[in-house]
Amino acid sequence: MSTGDDPRWWRSAVIYQIYPRSFADGNGDGIGDIAGIRERLAHLSDLGVDALWLSPWYPSPMADAGYDVADHRDIDPVFGTLAEAEELIAQAHRSGLRIIVDLVPNHCSDAHPWFQAALAGGPDAPERELFWFRPGRGPDGAEKPTDWVSPFGGDTWTRTTNPDGTPGDWYLHLFAPQQPDFNWDHPRVRAEFEDILRFWLDRSVDGIRIDSAAMLAKDPALPEATPDGPSPFVDVDAVHEIYRSWRRIVEQYPGGRALIGEVWLPDHQRFANYLRPDELHAAFNFDFLGCAWEASALRACVDATLAAHAPVDAPATWVLSNHDVTRHVTRYGRADTTFSFAAKREGVPSDLELGTRRARAAALLSLSLPGAAYVYQGEELGLWEVEDIPPELRQDPMFVRSGGVDPGRDGCRVPLPWSGDAPPFGFSPDDATAPPWLPQPADWKDRTARTQTGDDHSMLELYRAALAIRRRHPALGDGAMTWLPAPDGVLAFHRPPGFTCLVNLSATAVPLPPHAERLLASGPLDDERLPPDTAVWLRTTEPTPTPDATATGAEPAPA
Ligand code: NOJ
Ligand code: CA
Repeated sequence: MSTGDDPRWWRSAVIYQIYPRSFADGNGDGIGDIAGIRERLAHLSDLGVDALWLSPWYPSPMADAGYDVADHRDIDPVFGTLAEAEELIAQAHRSGLRIIVDLVPNHCSDAHPWFQAALAGGPDAPERELFWFRPGRGPDGAEKPTDWVSPFGGDTWTRTTNPDGTPGDWYLHLFAPQQPDFNWDHPRVRAEFEDILRFWLDRSVDGIRIDSAAMLAKDPALPEATPDGPSPFVDVDAVHEIYRSWRRIVEQYPGGRALIGEVWLPDHQRFANYLRPDELHAAFNFDFLGCAWEASALRACVDATLAAHAPVDAPATWVLSNHDVTRHVTRYGRADTTFSFAAKREGVPSDLELGTRRARAAALLSLSLPGAAYVYQGEELGLWEVEDIPPELRQDPMFVRSGGVDPGRDGCRVPLPWSGDAPPFGFSPDDATAPPWLPQPADWKDRTARTQTGDDHSMLELYRAALAIRRRHPALGDGAMTWLPAPDGVLAFHRPPGFTCLVNLSATAVPLPPHAERLLASGPLDDERLPPDTAVWLRTTEPTPTPDATATGAEPAPA
Protein backbone atom coordinates (compact mmCIF):
# COMPACT_ATOMS: atom_id res chain seq x y z
CA MET A 1 0.00 0.00 0.00
CA SER A 2 1.28 3.50 -0.75
CA THR A 3 2.61 5.08 2.44
CA GLY A 4 1.56 8.63 1.33
CA ASP A 5 1.08 10.90 4.34
CA ASP A 6 0.80 8.03 6.81
CA PRO A 7 2.76 8.92 9.96
CA ARG A 8 3.22 5.17 10.47
CA TRP A 9 4.77 4.84 6.98
CA TRP A 10 7.67 2.82 8.41
CA ARG A 11 5.34 -0.10 9.07
CA SER A 12 4.77 -0.69 5.35
CA ALA A 13 7.50 1.17 3.49
CA VAL A 14 9.85 -0.18 0.87
CA ILE A 15 13.17 1.40 1.75
CA TYR A 16 15.94 1.61 -0.84
CA GLN A 17 19.48 1.67 0.50
CA ILE A 18 21.83 4.07 -1.26
CA TYR A 19 25.52 3.44 -0.68
CA PRO A 20 26.63 6.93 -1.76
CA ARG A 21 30.17 6.03 -2.89
CA SER A 22 28.76 3.58 -5.41
CA PHE A 23 25.42 4.96 -6.54
CA ALA A 24 26.24 7.68 -9.09
CA ASP A 25 29.19 10.02 -9.57
CA GLY A 26 28.15 13.53 -10.56
CA ASN A 27 31.56 15.21 -10.77
CA GLY A 28 33.64 12.52 -12.45
CA ASP A 29 36.17 11.70 -9.73
CA GLY A 30 35.13 8.04 -9.74
CA ILE A 31 33.29 8.23 -6.40
CA GLY A 32 29.54 8.54 -6.06
CA ASP A 33 28.21 11.78 -4.60
CA ILE A 34 25.10 13.80 -3.78
CA ALA A 35 25.04 15.42 -7.23
CA GLY A 36 24.90 11.93 -8.73
CA ILE A 37 22.06 10.89 -6.42
CA ARG A 38 20.10 14.01 -7.35
CA GLU A 39 20.51 13.29 -11.05
CA ARG A 40 19.25 9.74 -10.57
CA LEU A 41 16.35 10.41 -8.25
CA ALA A 42 13.90 9.74 -11.08
CA HIS A 43 15.19 6.13 -11.23
CA LEU A 44 14.08 5.72 -7.63
CA SER A 45 10.68 7.32 -7.94
CA ASP A 46 10.06 5.32 -11.15
CA LEU A 47 11.11 2.20 -9.30
CA GLY A 48 8.33 2.87 -6.81
CA VAL A 49 10.13 2.75 -3.47
CA ASP A 50 8.88 4.85 -0.55
CA ALA A 51 12.05 5.93 1.21
CA LEU A 52 15.81 6.15 0.74
CA TRP A 53 18.34 5.20 3.40
CA LEU A 54 21.72 6.78 2.75
CA SER A 55 24.81 5.14 4.21
CA PRO A 56 27.08 7.70 5.93
CA TRP A 57 27.97 10.84 4.02
CA TYR A 58 29.72 12.74 6.82
CA PRO A 59 33.33 14.04 6.85
CA SER A 60 35.50 10.99 7.30
CA PRO A 61 39.01 9.74 6.60
CA MET A 62 37.17 6.73 5.07
CA ALA A 63 39.02 4.07 7.04
CA ASP A 64 35.71 2.18 6.98
CA ALA A 65 34.06 3.83 3.97
CA GLY A 66 32.49 6.57 6.07
CA TYR A 67 31.46 4.50 9.11
CA ASP A 68 34.36 6.35 10.78
CA VAL A 69 32.75 9.76 11.26
CA ALA A 70 34.85 12.84 12.05
CA ASP A 71 31.97 15.33 12.14
CA HIS A 72 28.36 14.21 12.50
CA ARG A 73 26.90 17.55 11.40
CA ASP A 74 28.45 18.04 7.99
CA ILE A 75 29.01 16.32 4.65
CA ASP A 76 32.32 14.96 3.37
CA PRO A 77 33.57 17.08 0.44
CA VAL A 78 33.88 13.93 -1.66
CA PHE A 79 30.07 13.66 -1.49
CA GLY A 80 29.22 17.39 -1.62
CA THR A 81 28.12 20.01 0.87
CA LEU A 82 25.56 20.32 3.64
CA ALA A 83 23.57 22.66 1.40
CA GLU A 84 23.46 19.98 -1.30
CA ALA A 85 22.30 17.42 1.26
CA GLU A 86 19.51 19.77 2.27
CA GLU A 87 18.56 20.22 -1.38
CA LEU A 88 18.54 16.46 -1.87
CA ILE A 89 16.20 16.03 1.10
CA ALA A 90 13.85 18.68 -0.30
CA GLN A 91 14.01 17.22 -3.83
CA ALA A 92 13.31 13.71 -2.53
CA HIS A 93 10.34 14.98 -0.57
CA ARG A 94 8.96 16.69 -3.68
CA SER A 95 9.25 13.31 -5.45
CA GLY A 96 7.36 11.58 -2.66
CA LEU A 97 10.45 9.85 -1.26
CA ARG A 98 11.29 9.89 2.43
CA ILE A 99 14.90 10.17 3.60
CA ILE A 100 16.66 8.12 6.26
CA VAL A 101 20.16 9.08 7.36
CA ASP A 102 22.68 6.74 8.92
CA LEU A 103 23.84 7.60 12.43
CA VAL A 104 26.99 5.97 13.80
CA PRO A 105 26.85 6.34 17.59
CA ASN A 106 29.00 3.44 18.78
CA HIS A 107 32.27 4.95 17.62
CA CYS A 108 33.73 7.86 15.69
CA SER A 109 36.80 8.43 13.56
CA ASP A 110 40.19 8.79 15.17
CA ALA A 111 40.22 12.17 13.40
CA HIS A 112 37.19 13.33 15.46
CA PRO A 113 38.15 16.43 17.51
CA TRP A 114 37.25 14.75 20.80
CA PHE A 115 39.55 11.82 20.13
CA GLN A 116 42.31 14.09 18.89
CA ALA A 117 42.01 16.10 22.11
CA ALA A 118 42.04 12.89 24.15
CA LEU A 119 45.31 11.85 22.54
CA ALA A 120 46.97 15.26 22.58
CA GLY A 121 46.03 15.98 26.21
CA GLY A 122 47.84 12.92 27.56
CA PRO A 123 46.70 10.53 30.29
CA ASP A 124 44.85 13.21 32.26
CA ALA A 125 42.91 14.72 29.36
CA PRO A 126 39.22 14.97 30.35
CA GLU A 127 38.30 13.92 26.78
CA ARG A 128 39.64 10.45 27.56
CA GLU A 129 36.52 9.91 29.66
CA LEU A 130 34.46 10.17 26.48
CA PHE A 131 36.12 6.98 25.18
CA TRP A 132 37.42 3.78 26.75
CA PHE A 133 41.03 4.50 27.68
CA ARG A 134 42.58 1.92 30.03
CA PRO A 135 46.05 0.99 31.24
CA GLY A 136 47.38 -2.21 29.77
CA ARG A 137 47.83 -5.41 31.74
CA GLY A 138 51.19 -6.80 32.78
CA PRO A 139 54.05 -5.10 34.64
CA ASP A 140 54.69 -2.42 32.01
CA GLY A 141 51.13 -2.23 30.69
CA ALA A 142 52.21 -3.83 27.44
CA GLU A 143 49.30 -6.27 27.29
CA LYS A 144 45.91 -5.20 26.00
CA PRO A 145 43.23 -4.68 28.70
CA THR A 146 40.95 -7.50 27.44
CA ASP A 147 41.04 -10.21 24.80
CA TRP A 148 37.81 -9.13 23.11
CA VAL A 149 37.81 -9.98 19.41
CA SER A 150 36.62 -7.46 16.82
CA PRO A 151 33.80 -8.30 14.41
CA PHE A 152 36.35 -7.10 11.83
CA GLY A 153 38.82 -9.72 13.06
CA GLY A 154 41.83 -8.88 15.21
CA ASP A 155 42.27 -6.86 18.37
CA THR A 156 39.88 -4.35 19.87
CA TRP A 157 42.51 -2.31 21.73
CA THR A 158 45.32 -0.10 20.46
CA ARG A 159 48.06 1.32 22.63
CA THR A 160 48.64 5.07 22.56
CA THR A 161 51.88 6.99 22.84
CA ASN A 162 51.96 9.74 25.43
CA PRO A 163 52.76 13.30 24.32
CA ASP A 164 56.26 12.81 25.86
CA GLY A 165 56.88 9.79 23.64
CA THR A 166 56.48 7.08 26.33
CA PRO A 167 54.05 4.17 25.78
CA GLY A 168 50.66 5.11 27.14
CA ASP A 169 47.18 3.75 27.80
CA TRP A 170 45.13 1.66 25.43
CA TYR A 171 41.80 2.63 23.83
CA LEU A 172 38.92 0.38 22.84
CA HIS A 173 37.71 0.02 19.24
CA LEU A 174 35.28 -2.78 18.58
CA PHE A 175 35.86 -2.22 14.85
CA ALA A 176 39.02 -0.81 13.20
CA PRO A 177 41.67 1.08 15.24
CA GLN A 178 40.54 4.22 13.39
CA GLN A 179 37.09 3.81 15.02
CA PRO A 180 37.42 4.49 18.79
CA ASP A 181 34.33 3.50 20.82
CA PHE A 182 32.45 6.20 22.70
CA ASN A 183 31.81 5.80 26.40
CA TRP A 184 28.02 5.92 26.58
CA ASP A 185 28.12 6.13 30.37
CA HIS A 186 29.32 9.71 29.97
CA PRO A 187 26.56 12.35 29.95
CA ARG A 188 28.41 14.45 27.37
CA VAL A 189 28.27 11.59 24.85
CA ARG A 190 24.54 11.25 25.41
CA ALA A 191 23.91 14.98 25.14
CA GLU A 192 26.02 15.21 21.99
CA PHE A 193 24.08 12.50 20.19
CA GLU A 194 20.74 13.89 21.26
CA ASP A 195 21.85 17.13 19.67
CA ILE A 196 23.03 15.35 16.50
CA LEU A 197 19.68 13.60 16.29
CA ARG A 198 17.91 16.96 16.47
CA PHE A 199 20.32 18.42 13.92
CA TRP A 200 19.14 15.93 11.28
CA LEU A 201 15.50 15.86 12.37
CA ASP A 202 15.52 19.65 12.06
CA ARG A 203 16.67 19.09 8.48
CA SER A 204 13.45 17.16 7.87
CA VAL A 205 14.84 13.65 7.64
CA ASP A 206 12.13 11.05 8.11
CA GLY A 207 14.18 8.38 9.77
CA ILE A 208 17.48 7.46 11.36
CA ARG A 209 19.24 4.15 10.74
CA ILE A 210 21.31 3.36 13.81
CA ASP A 211 24.63 1.69 13.12
CA SER A 212 25.75 -1.18 15.40
CA ALA A 213 22.74 -0.39 17.57
CA ALA A 214 23.23 -3.23 20.06
CA MET A 215 26.83 -2.34 20.89
CA LEU A 216 26.76 1.12 22.48
CA ALA A 217 26.63 0.05 26.14
CA LYS A 218 29.55 -1.89 27.60
CA ASP A 219 29.88 -3.75 30.86
CA PRO A 220 31.98 -1.10 32.70
CA ALA A 221 33.96 -3.80 34.53
CA LEU A 222 35.30 -4.88 31.11
CA PRO A 223 35.23 -8.61 31.87
CA GLU A 224 36.47 -11.14 29.35
CA ALA A 225 33.94 -12.43 26.85
CA THR A 226 33.05 -16.06 27.55
CA PRO A 227 31.43 -18.45 25.07
CA ASP A 228 28.35 -19.06 27.23
CA GLY A 229 28.01 -15.90 29.31
CA PRO A 230 26.47 -12.60 28.27
CA SER A 231 28.68 -10.50 26.01
CA PRO A 232 30.33 -7.54 27.74
CA PHE A 233 29.80 -5.40 24.65
CA VAL A 234 26.83 -6.71 22.67
CA ASP A 235 23.27 -6.26 23.89
CA VAL A 236 24.17 -4.98 27.35
CA ASP A 237 20.89 -3.99 29.03
CA ALA A 238 21.94 -0.38 29.62
CA VAL A 239 21.62 0.27 25.88
CA HIS A 240 17.82 0.38 26.07
CA GLU A 241 17.72 3.56 28.11
CA ILE A 242 19.55 5.35 25.28
CA TYR A 243 16.83 4.42 22.80
CA ARG A 244 14.07 5.42 25.20
CA SER A 245 15.55 8.90 25.35
CA TRP A 246 15.85 9.01 21.55
CA ARG A 247 12.26 7.89 21.12
CA ARG A 248 11.14 10.78 23.31
CA ILE A 249 13.05 13.15 21.02
CA VAL A 250 11.74 11.84 17.70
CA GLU A 251 8.20 11.91 19.01
CA GLN A 252 8.49 15.67 19.43
CA TYR A 253 8.74 15.98 15.64
CA PRO A 254 5.75 15.96 13.30
CA GLY A 255 5.11 13.58 10.43
CA GLY A 256 6.25 10.26 11.88
CA ARG A 257 10.04 10.04 12.22
CA ALA A 258 11.40 6.52 12.58
CA LEU A 259 14.34 4.97 14.42
CA ILE A 260 15.61 1.86 12.65
CA GLY A 261 18.21 -0.27 14.36
CA GLU A 262 20.99 -2.37 12.95
CA VAL A 263 20.60 -5.13 15.52
CA TRP A 264 22.36 -8.45 14.82
CA LEU A 265 21.22 -10.79 17.59
CA PRO A 266 20.48 -14.49 17.34
CA ASP A 267 17.93 -14.42 20.16
CA HIS A 268 14.52 -13.27 18.86
CA GLN A 269 13.33 -12.19 22.28
CA ARG A 270 16.40 -10.06 22.95
CA PHE A 271 16.02 -8.61 19.44
CA ALA A 272 12.38 -7.71 20.04
CA ASN A 273 13.34 -5.84 23.22
CA TYR A 274 14.72 -3.10 20.98
CA LEU A 275 11.29 -2.73 19.39
CA ARG A 276 9.27 -2.15 22.53
CA PRO A 277 6.79 0.71 22.06
CA ASP A 278 9.07 3.26 23.75
CA GLU A 279 12.26 2.25 21.89
CA LEU A 280 13.04 1.76 18.18
CA HIS A 281 10.37 1.64 15.50
CA ALA A 282 11.95 -1.12 13.45
CA ALA A 283 15.11 -3.20 13.04
CA PHE A 284 16.67 -5.12 10.17
CA ASN A 285 15.73 -8.77 9.89
CA PHE A 286 19.13 -10.39 9.42
CA ASP A 287 17.75 -13.86 10.10
CA PHE A 288 15.79 -13.63 6.90
CA LEU A 289 18.84 -12.28 5.06
CA GLY A 290 20.98 -15.19 6.23
CA CYS A 291 18.31 -17.87 5.76
CA ALA A 292 18.84 -20.73 3.32
CA TRP A 293 16.78 -20.77 0.12
CA GLU A 294 14.77 -23.64 1.47
CA ALA A 295 11.02 -23.78 2.16
CA SER A 296 10.96 -25.10 5.71
CA ALA A 297 13.81 -22.83 6.84
CA LEU A 298 12.14 -19.78 5.31
CA ARG A 299 8.78 -20.66 6.78
CA ALA A 300 10.34 -21.12 10.22
CA CYS A 301 12.11 -17.77 9.84
CA VAL A 302 8.88 -15.98 8.86
CA ASP A 303 7.01 -17.56 11.77
CA ALA A 304 9.74 -16.72 14.28
CA THR A 305 9.94 -13.17 12.95
CA LEU A 306 6.20 -12.56 13.21
CA ALA A 307 5.98 -14.21 16.61
CA ALA A 308 8.77 -11.99 17.96
CA HIS A 309 7.34 -8.76 16.57
CA ALA A 310 3.69 -9.28 17.49
CA PRO A 311 3.97 -8.84 21.28
CA VAL A 312 5.76 -5.50 20.90
CA ASP A 313 3.48 -4.45 18.02
CA ALA A 314 6.44 -3.66 15.75
CA PRO A 315 6.44 -4.25 11.99
CA ALA A 316 8.65 -7.01 10.66
CA THR A 317 11.25 -6.08 8.04
CA TRP A 318 12.41 -8.20 5.11
CA VAL A 319 15.98 -7.77 3.96
CA LEU A 320 17.85 -9.76 1.32
CA SER A 321 21.07 -7.78 0.92
CA ASN A 322 23.00 -4.73 2.12
CA HIS A 323 26.47 -3.19 1.84
CA ASP A 324 27.98 -5.70 4.30
CA VAL A 325 26.94 -9.05 2.85
CA THR A 326 27.41 -11.18 -0.26
CA ARG A 327 24.84 -10.16 -2.89
CA HIS A 328 21.99 -12.66 -2.89
CA VAL A 329 22.13 -13.49 -6.61
CA THR A 330 25.53 -15.03 -5.84
CA ARG A 331 24.46 -16.61 -2.53
CA TYR A 332 21.38 -18.23 -4.01
CA GLY A 333 23.40 -19.74 -6.84
CA ARG A 334 25.67 -21.65 -4.47
CA ALA A 335 25.18 -25.11 -2.97
CA ASP A 336 25.05 -23.49 0.49
CA THR A 337 22.66 -20.54 0.16
CA THR A 338 22.99 -19.19 3.73
CA PHE A 339 24.94 -16.13 4.76
CA SER A 340 27.08 -15.61 7.84
CA PHE A 341 30.11 -13.44 8.41
CA ALA A 342 31.92 -16.32 10.06
CA ALA A 343 31.65 -18.35 6.87
CA LYS A 344 31.94 -15.53 4.34
CA ARG A 345 33.52 -17.01 1.28
CA GLU A 346 34.57 -16.06 -2.16
CA GLY A 347 35.33 -18.15 -5.20
CA VAL A 348 32.78 -20.80 -4.15
CA PRO A 349 31.12 -21.90 -7.39
CA SER A 350 27.84 -20.10 -7.99
CA ASP A 351 25.34 -20.70 -10.78
CA LEU A 352 24.35 -17.10 -11.44
CA GLU A 353 21.46 -18.06 -13.68
CA LEU A 354 19.96 -20.14 -10.88
CA GLY A 355 20.82 -17.42 -8.35
CA THR A 356 19.06 -14.84 -10.51
CA ARG A 357 15.95 -16.99 -10.87
CA ARG A 358 15.82 -17.45 -7.10
CA ALA A 359 16.51 -13.76 -6.47
CA ARG A 360 13.48 -12.95 -8.64
CA ALA A 361 11.32 -15.30 -6.61
CA ALA A 362 12.79 -13.94 -3.37
CA ALA A 363 11.85 -10.41 -4.46
CA LEU A 364 8.18 -11.41 -4.73
CA LEU A 365 8.40 -13.24 -1.42
CA SER A 366 10.03 -10.41 0.52
CA LEU A 367 7.82 -7.73 -1.03
CA SER A 368 4.62 -9.51 -0.06
CA LEU A 369 5.35 -10.56 3.53
CA PRO A 370 3.75 -8.38 6.23
CA GLY A 371 5.75 -5.30 7.19
CA ALA A 372 8.45 -3.16 5.60
CA ALA A 373 10.97 -4.28 2.98
CA TYR A 374 14.48 -3.17 2.07
CA VAL A 375 16.08 -3.05 -1.36
CA TYR A 376 19.86 -2.65 -1.52
CA GLN A 377 21.02 -0.60 -4.50
CA GLY A 378 21.72 -2.80 -7.50
CA GLU A 379 19.50 -5.60 -6.23
CA GLU A 380 16.84 -4.21 -8.60
CA LEU A 381 19.35 -4.67 -11.43
CA GLY A 382 20.12 -8.25 -10.43
CA LEU A 383 23.77 -7.50 -9.71
CA TRP A 384 25.94 -10.29 -8.41
CA GLU A 385 28.86 -10.18 -5.97
CA VAL A 386 32.06 -9.13 -7.75
CA GLU A 387 34.56 -11.72 -6.63
CA ASP A 388 37.56 -10.92 -8.81
CA ILE A 389 38.56 -7.49 -7.54
CA PRO A 390 42.38 -7.45 -7.53
CA PRO A 391 43.75 -7.46 -3.97
CA GLU A 392 45.59 -4.17 -4.44
CA LEU A 393 42.32 -2.40 -5.29
CA ARG A 394 40.37 -3.72 -2.31
CA GLN A 395 39.63 -1.17 0.37
CA ASP A 396 37.54 -2.87 3.03
CA PRO A 397 39.26 -3.06 6.45
CA MET A 398 37.80 -6.56 6.86
CA PHE A 399 39.96 -7.73 3.94
CA VAL A 400 43.02 -5.77 5.01
CA ARG A 401 42.82 -6.61 8.73
CA SER A 402 42.34 -10.32 8.11
CA GLY A 403 45.43 -10.37 5.92
CA GLY A 404 43.21 -11.25 2.97
CA VAL A 405 41.65 -14.29 4.69
CA ASP A 406 38.24 -12.60 4.80
CA PRO A 407 37.32 -11.39 1.31
CA GLY A 408 35.67 -8.34 2.83
CA ARG A 409 32.72 -6.39 1.51
CA ASP A 410 34.04 -4.62 -1.57
CA GLY A 411 32.35 -7.16 -3.85
CA CYS A 412 28.86 -5.88 -3.01
CA ARG A 413 29.94 -2.23 -3.16
CA VAL A 414 31.01 -1.99 -6.80
CA PRO A 415 29.63 1.15 -8.49
CA LEU A 416 26.26 0.69 -10.22
CA PRO A 417 25.98 0.23 -14.00
CA TRP A 418 23.53 2.75 -15.43
CA SER A 419 24.00 2.67 -19.19
CA GLY A 420 26.38 1.92 -22.06
CA ASP A 421 28.47 -1.06 -23.09
CA ALA A 422 31.62 -0.58 -21.06
CA PRO A 423 32.77 0.73 -17.68
CA PRO A 424 32.03 3.16 -16.13
CA PHE A 425 28.57 2.29 -17.49
CA GLY A 426 27.28 5.81 -16.93
CA PHE A 427 28.27 5.70 -13.24
CA SER A 428 30.56 8.67 -13.93
CA PRO A 429 30.04 11.31 -16.64
CA ASP A 430 31.78 10.86 -20.00
CA ASP A 431 34.51 13.37 -19.16
CA ALA A 432 35.38 11.68 -15.85
CA THR A 433 38.92 12.18 -14.60
CA ALA A 434 39.14 8.88 -12.73
CA PRO A 435 37.79 5.34 -13.11
CA PRO A 436 35.14 4.06 -10.65
CA TRP A 437 36.70 3.53 -7.21
CA LEU A 438 36.19 -0.24 -7.60
CA PRO A 439 36.34 -1.88 -11.04
CA GLN A 440 33.04 -2.94 -12.62
CA PRO A 441 32.76 -6.30 -14.44
CA ALA A 442 32.51 -6.00 -18.23
CA ASP A 443 29.53 -8.42 -18.09
CA TRP A 444 27.43 -5.80 -16.36
CA LYS A 445 26.68 -4.39 -19.82
CA ASP A 446 23.62 -6.67 -19.76
CA ARG A 447 22.54 -5.42 -16.33
CA THR A 448 22.54 -1.65 -16.78
CA ALA A 449 19.41 0.24 -15.82
CA ARG A 450 19.14 1.50 -19.41
CA THR A 451 19.29 -1.91 -21.05
CA GLN A 452 16.78 -3.41 -18.62
CA THR A 453 14.26 -0.61 -18.99
CA GLY A 454 11.36 -1.78 -21.12
CA ASP A 455 12.53 -5.40 -21.14
CA ASP A 456 9.67 -7.27 -19.51
CA HIS A 457 11.94 -10.15 -18.56
CA SER A 458 14.46 -7.97 -16.72
CA MET A 459 14.97 -7.79 -12.97
CA LEU A 460 14.38 -4.04 -13.08
CA GLU A 461 10.95 -4.39 -14.69
CA LEU A 462 10.07 -7.16 -12.23
CA TYR A 463 10.85 -4.83 -9.31
CA ARG A 464 8.94 -1.96 -10.95
CA ALA A 465 5.90 -4.15 -11.54
CA ALA A 466 6.01 -5.63 -8.04
CA LEU A 467 6.40 -2.24 -6.38
CA ALA A 468 3.58 -0.76 -8.46
CA ILE A 469 1.27 -3.57 -7.32
CA ARG A 470 2.45 -3.23 -3.76
CA ARG A 471 1.69 0.50 -3.74
CA ARG A 472 -1.90 0.07 -4.83
CA HIS A 473 -2.84 -3.25 -3.23
CA PRO A 474 -4.50 -2.91 0.18
CA ALA A 475 -3.30 -6.37 1.25
CA LEU A 476 0.41 -5.54 1.01
CA GLY A 477 2.71 -3.87 3.52
CA ASP A 478 1.69 -4.03 7.17
CA GLY A 479 -1.06 -6.48 8.09
CA ALA A 480 -1.86 -10.12 8.62
CA MET A 481 -0.91 -13.26 6.73
CA THR A 482 -2.05 -16.86 6.83
CA TRP A 483 -0.20 -19.88 5.55
CA LEU A 484 -2.12 -21.99 3.06
CA PRO A 485 -1.77 -25.73 2.64
CA ALA A 486 0.79 -26.40 -0.09
CA PRO A 487 2.87 -29.27 -1.48
CA ASP A 488 6.24 -30.01 0.11
CA GLY A 489 8.80 -27.36 -0.69
CA VAL A 490 6.19 -24.76 -1.59
CA LEU A 491 5.39 -21.65 0.44
CA ALA A 492 1.85 -20.35 0.04
CA PHE A 493 0.26 -17.60 2.05
CA HIS A 494 -2.79 -15.42 1.91
CA ARG A 495 -3.00 -11.73 2.75
CA PRO A 496 -6.41 -10.18 3.14
CA PRO A 497 -8.09 -8.87 1.12
CA GLY A 498 -7.75 -11.13 -1.87
CA PHE A 499 -4.02 -11.70 -2.25
CA THR A 500 -2.08 -14.95 -2.40
CA CYS A 501 1.66 -15.52 -2.88
CA LEU A 502 3.08 -18.87 -3.89
CA VAL A 503 6.81 -19.63 -3.98
CA ASN A 504 8.00 -22.94 -5.34
CA LEU A 505 11.27 -24.02 -3.74
CA SER A 506 10.78 -27.66 -4.69
CA ALA A 507 12.27 -29.44 -7.68
CA THR A 508 9.03 -29.91 -9.61
CA ALA A 509 6.37 -27.62 -11.07
CA VAL A 510 3.19 -27.32 -9.00
CA PRO A 511 -0.35 -26.35 -9.98
CA LEU A 512 -1.63 -22.89 -9.09
CA PRO A 513 -4.49 -22.73 -6.60
CA PRO A 514 -7.81 -21.42 -7.93
CA HIS A 515 -7.54 -17.68 -8.51
CA ALA A 516 -9.33 -14.78 -10.15
CA GLU A 517 -6.26 -13.20 -11.75
CA ARG A 518 -2.54 -13.70 -12.04
CA LEU A 519 -1.00 -10.43 -10.89
CA LEU A 520 2.70 -11.10 -11.41
CA ALA A 521 5.10 -14.02 -11.74
CA SER A 522 8.86 -14.03 -11.24
CA GLY A 523 9.35 -16.23 -14.32
CA PRO A 524 7.46 -17.98 -17.10
CA LEU A 525 4.81 -20.46 -16.01
CA ASP A 526 4.75 -23.97 -17.33
CA ASP A 527 1.21 -24.42 -18.63
CA GLU A 528 -0.51 -22.98 -15.52
CA ARG A 529 2.01 -24.68 -13.29
CA LEU A 530 4.56 -22.86 -11.19
CA PRO A 531 8.10 -24.06 -12.03
CA PRO A 532 10.84 -24.53 -9.42
CA ASP A 533 12.43 -21.38 -7.99
CA THR A 534 9.54 -19.26 -9.20
CA ALA A 535 7.00 -17.15 -7.31
CA VAL A 536 3.60 -15.82 -8.30
CA TRP A 537 1.21 -13.24 -6.93
CA LEU A 538 -2.49 -14.05 -7.39
CA ARG A 539 -5.76 -12.26 -6.88
CA THR A 540 -7.90 -14.68 -4.95
CA THR A 541 -11.22 -14.53 -3.20
CA GLU A 542 -11.17 -14.68 0.57
CA PRO A 543 -10.60 -18.08 2.11
CA THR A 544 -13.46 -19.36 4.23
CA PRO A 545 -12.63 -18.35 7.78
CA THR A 546 -12.21 -21.20 10.20
CA PRO A 547 -13.14 -20.62 13.84
CA ASP A 548 -9.58 -21.08 15.10
CA ALA A 549 -7.70 -19.36 12.23
CA THR A 550 -4.66 -17.65 13.72
CA ALA A 551 -2.29 -15.08 12.29
CA THR A 552 0.15 -17.64 10.99
CA GLY A 553 -1.78 -20.89 11.10
CA ALA A 554 -2.86 -22.75 7.97
CA GLU A 555 -6.29 -22.06 6.55
CA PRO A 556 -8.30 -23.60 3.72
CA ALA A 557 -7.09 -22.72 0.24
CA PRO A 558 -8.83 -19.69 -1.24
CA ALA A 559 -11.24 -20.37 -4.07
C1 NOJ B 1 27.78 -1.78 10.46
C2 NOJ B 1 27.89 -1.17 9.11
O1 NOJ B 1 26.82 -1.59 8.32
C3 NOJ B 1 29.23 -1.58 8.57
O2 NOJ B 1 29.39 -1.26 7.22
C4 NOJ B 1 30.30 -0.93 9.42
O3 NOJ B 1 31.57 -1.39 8.99
C5 NOJ B 1 30.12 -1.31 10.90
N1 NOJ B 1 28.76 -1.21 11.34
C6 NOJ B 1 30.95 -0.38 11.77
O4 NOJ B 1 30.42 0.92 11.72
CA1 CA C 1 32.18 12.16 -7.39
